[in-house]
Amino acid sequence: MDFLWLFLLYMTFLLLCVSGFCFLRGRSSSSLDAVFHTVEQAFSFVLPTCLQRYIDSCFHTRSVAFVVLHLILDALVFAEYTWEVLDYSLELEMNWMLVFLPYTLISVNLYLFYKCCAVDPGTVTKQNEALCTQVYEYDDVIFHRGSKCPTCHLLKPARSKHCGVCGSCVQRFDHHCVWVNNCIGAMNIRYFLLYLLSLTLTAVSLAVVITGFLLQVVLLSHMMTAAYVDSEGHEEIAGIVFIIQHLFLTFPRIVFTLGFLVILILLLGGYTCFLWYLSITNQTTNEWYKARRWQSSTPGSPKGYSRGILTNMREIFQPHTRYRKQR
Ligand SMILES: *[C@@H]1O[C@H](CO)[C@@H](O)[C@H](O)[C@H]1NC(C)=O
Ligand SMILES: [Zn+2]
Ligand SMILES: [Zn+2]
Repeated sequence: MDFLWLFLLYMTFLLLCVSGFCFLRGRSSSSLDAVFHTVEQAFSFVLPTCLQRYIDSCFHTRSVAFVVLHLILDALVFAEYTWEVLDYSLELEMNWMLVFLPYTLISVNLYLFYKCCAVDPGTVTKQNEALCTQVYEYDDVIFHRGSKCPTCHLLKPARSKHCGVCGSCVQRFDHHCVWVNNCIGAMNIRYFLLYLLSLTLTAVSLAVVITGFLLQVVLLSHMMTAAYVDSEGHEEIAGIVFIIQHLFLTFPRIVFTLGFLVILILLLGGYTCFLWYLSITNQTTNEWYKARRWQSSTPGSPKGYSRGILTNMREIFQPHTRYRKQR
């Protein structure tokens, strides 16, 4: 049973890491501030001050730290997949299209990742200010006509928000994402939605191949019907615990990668569904969050502006370019 404890510890550690990263993702716009504060305080005991200050600066100024971390994680998972799983899987005669699918998906994903980082999210400037304010109508609940941004001294278009990290107002502001070191706004939300989808699919395809591979190993080695002799000399049939233990000891890195992928799929998949749901209903994360706060303080709520799934999605995938041309 010692092994099982080790394994559980391993999984808990994994879960903590991944959920930590996922929380950080939405940090600048989320309501989980209290949680972050607690986590921050816990970290402040163990991390040296200079490192703390560095991590802090990553959240308050633009920094490529998380972009690099993202690429490193990608590279690690794919290195493990290529060096260990790929050969075995092909030897076991798994469908080669399935085995190579993750590479196709990650290529698409990296392109979209680049787009999210590089494309201007729809910054409001002096030149396009007037045009930006015409794109959406003010609802006079969350967005008020004629209000100005106290930092940029420009008119605030409806649905926009000032991003403290980027230092500018962003049209149709969704949130600031540290993983792409950019705001998600009118002009790049379409890339971001596809980026999330492709990343989830990449993780799913990797997990499917790895699971298929491990199942093959179990079946081919007849582990299900194997028996072993325990410390008291009794012969026992290998159960599921024994099999997991055996796989874990034989392919520790592969099983670890699979655990990481499964947790990633759950969290990332959930987040992807959430953001797609918001897009389909013509809301931004910022508006969703504000509307919830609004609801709790006042009866009734700001009205929705959804005009049907297709119209909402068309607006996202073909954003108004009026204000872009005149920059
Ligand atoms: C989405 O909502 C905004 C108001 O928040 C509205 O001005 C816009 O026309 C709506 N777009 C669609 C496609 O329904
Ligand atoms: Zn501003
Ligand atoms: Zn930003």
